[in-house]
Amino acid sequence: MNAEAISLNEKEVKPVVDLLNDYLANYHIHYQKLRGCHWNIKGQNFFTLHVKFEELYTNAQLTIDEIAERVLTLGKPPHSRFADYINESSIKEIDTIGMVDLDMVEAILDDMAKLIELERYLLIASDEAGDDGTNDMVNRFMQFKEKNTWMLRSFAGKK
Ligand SMILES: [Fe+2]
Repeated sequence: MNAEAISLNEKEVKPVVDLLNDYLANYHIHYQKLRGCHWNIKGQNFFTLHVKFEELYTNAQLTIDEIAERVLTLGKPPHSRFADYINESSIKEIDTIGMVDLDMVEAILDDMAKLIELERYLLIASDEAGDDGTNDMVNRFMQFKEKNTWMLRSFAGKK
């Protein structure tokens, strides 16, 4: 499989593929952070946030699979090793043990802001490569996090 098979130019699409692999790495770190928050949440908001974090990591898991398979659709192998994810992700791991609930929400909001920033680069790169499929997919993922940014900020009582 290569990009030419779906009427895309391999050279033009290369920046998109590279960004998608970075995006995949960042999403994996975000995913595992969500699981840590889901497991280690304590306090009065346990029932609300335990469920919310599960909703978010379930969505992230599906998103990760779509990103990786888009890389394959564009003719390249996606990163699949944790070592690569840790090395390439600009989102960093955190220890969620003993973390206060609102700090967890803050950490997830920070990740979402970074992912949305990356998505905006991807929208520009995929537009320049004429790669509407990636553009549409990333736009969908971005809208989910935009909406959840509003909800998590509201939960935290932010303006
Ligand atoms: Fe669970």
